[in-house]
Amino acid sequence: MPQEVHEHQDLKPGHICVDCTLGGSGHALATLRSIVPDGLLIGIDQDLDAIHHARQILQPFEKNVRLFHSNFSDLPRILEAEKIFGVNSILLDLGFSLNQLKNGKRGFSFNKNEPLDMRMDIRNDLTAFDIINSFSESELTDIFFKFGEEKFSRKISRKIVETRKTAPIHTSFELAQMITKAIPAKFVYSQRIHPATRVFQALRIVVNKELEQLETFMKSVPSLLVKGGRLCIISFHSLEDRIVKQAIRKFENGCTCPKDLPICLCGFTPQMKSIFKKPLIPTKEEIDINPMARSSKLRVAQKV
Ligand SMILES: C[S@@+](CC[C@H](N)C(=O)[O-])C[C@H]1O[C@@H](n2cnc3c(N)ncnc32)[C@H](O)[C@@H]1O
Repeated sequence: MPQEVHEHQDLKPGHICVDCTLGGSGHALATLRSIVPDGLLIGIDQDLDAIHHARQILQPFEKNVRLFHSNFSDLPRILEAEKIFGVNSILLDLGFSLNQLKNGKRGFSFNKNEPLDMRMDIRNDLTAFDIINSFSESELTDIFFKFGEEKFSRKISRKIVETRKTAPIHTSFELAQMITKAIPAKFVYSQRIHPATRVFQALRIVVNKELEQLETFMKSVPSLLVKGGRLCIISFHSLEDRIVKQAIRKFENGCTCPKDLPICLCGFTPQMKSIFKKPLIPTKEEIDINPMARSSKLRVAQKV
């Protein structure tokens, strides 16, 4: 939803903006074009490849960009170190990039025979290989169910544990084939998505601590924006969207006192307001062009 994001960021020349998920830098470029000549873009990605790519793509705007190989949950520390005490816009376009899927060589795609890694930031220790080859059957079941909403999680984890008794499971392709074998055939062929989609999502979430990082980040949002500043977040599954929705609702409500108290004792006042009640979803035309966008949702909130 590049058009919708751009419209709702409400950018003006001179604005200070943050792109927390640079990826291929498409949104970053559009942002820069709206905030030059004297605006500033703070660009963050936890994948070093995305930072190298951004350095090239954003080169014409060199003076207006500062890049950080970091997690967006570190944004408060980054802004403090840069002596920036309020920004006009923050964008998060969650999940993984097309480049990570196609050229990452880290096992994000079930259609490729790549090492089971799935770390977006290779400085972290835990990989998908570690999880698949060393977590217990019940831990695997929990992960697939909780973070992939996979209804065959038990069957899949049993198959993994059985298979790894003979030899470790090394590649994304091996794992995808194993998942396909573990699921009853009639479900394999009746699903719209590849049978390994949910397990791969679950592994990626755990390897990259995606939900914890998002929760930590959301707590800091009102303190980072100037009054009227905008937060735009594109999420790709219900677990992410729930965290974003609940955090924004909490900031909108302000007071946390029990409903039956006659007066407010907590003193919290509303800090943000949603720009629209329901999230925006992509049009059919956008999904036809970019099938990866099919499950995306855009939420926008403004600091009051
Ligand atoms: C969907 S892509 C972003 C695409 C980008 N908006 C564009 O225009 O090309 C998501 C990017 O966010 C990065 N990412 C995901 N979670 C992150 C986090 N917690 N901190 C920093 N970067 C993150 C990924 O490494 C990936 O490059």
